[in-house]
Amino acid sequence: MEIKKIQDMDIAGKNVILRVDFNVAMEDGKVKEMFKIIAAKETIDYLLSRDCQIALITHLGRPDGKVDSKFSLDQIATEVEIILGRKVTFVPDCIGEKVQAALENLEEGVLLLENVRFYAGDETNDAAFAGQLAEHFEVFVQDAFSVCHRDQASVTGIAKVLPSCAGFRLLEELHGMTIIKDHPVHPAVAIIGGAKIETKLPVIKFFEEKYDYILVGGKIANEALDQKIEFSEKVILPVDFVDDRLDIGPKTVEKFKEIIATAKTIAWNGPTGKFEEEKYAVSSNAILEAVIDSGAFVLVGGGETLEILEKNIAMDKISFVSTGGGAMLDYLSGAAMPGIDILQK
Ligand code: 3PG
Repeated sequence: MEIKKIQDMDIAGKNVILRVDFNVAMEDGKVKEMFKIIAAKETIDYLLSRDCQIALITHLGRPDGKVDSKFSLDQIATEVEIILGRKVTFVPDCIGEKVQAALENLEEGVLLLENVRFYAGDETNDAAFAGQLAEHFEVFVQDAFSVCHRDQASVTGIAKVLPSCAGFRLLEELHGMTIIKDHPVHPAVAIIGGAKIETKLPVIKFFEEKYDYILVGGKIANEALDQKIEFSEKVILPVDFVDDRLDIGPKTVEKFKEIIATAKTIAWNGPTGKFEEEKYAVSSNAILEAVIDSGAFVLVGGGETLEILEKNIAMDKISFVSTGGGAMLDYLSGAAMPGIDILQK
């Protein structure tokens, strides 16, 4: 499938609404993980170099279609400004007159619109709401791979109204995902952890068809063992645990490390233990080290897995870090990606 790319658009001087994913983890009112914001920089810089007026549109959390200051983008505007190195003007709405006025007065930098999920019409993909989002703009750029599994007004609805294309970050993510999905060099190893086995089963099935080993840790390993789920012999479940199964045990870690050392391609989504507590981060940290040492092409995705990379200052040591958690799992499982399909040429 060929999609419309930002570099092929006649975009100079236009009013552009740019879908980013600033749905970032917060701690004490501060951004805990900056990666998703950094990821938007290349496209923003490109659009500014072409004299575009840019408004960033994103969700933060799940405010259920209601205004809730806990989820306001206002609280991260200053940090976004520092991370992007551009003036950021917060607009306390994402549709209507406030957006229009802010665009007319925009002299420098970018606008950051208020949380799109303060309107129920985003998640219900209401066509009238999508029209309101599009109202003051000439082009829609989608740069958030991590929301492309959602069929929502700020993802697909608006793309039906405005000329639309993929930004640089989305294009890079699709490139990385294609290597992992369609062209893995063997031996290919998937590491799947985290929680909710039912959400991970489709992706484990995908890897069973295409990969040589699937190493399963974290809460899903407990769930798979408890539910006596049967897998092919490619799926390696833990043989030991520590403390009430809060982390996988040393024998399992050794076995996983041996397999990882042979890999030429690695896909990793989800921690292998309750890594938030340092003493149960042992396996996740050891796996990270083995993954880096393997010399394989490595793609890592999922919010918690990214936290492990950030804690270990390892972002730069991984071939490709994806912003996608749920989107990565859906993409690899072959589920629909409406936000990408809508950008088809
Ligand atoms: C994510 O964090 O994976 C994306 O921002 C999607 O968020 P959502 O699951 O609330 O749609």
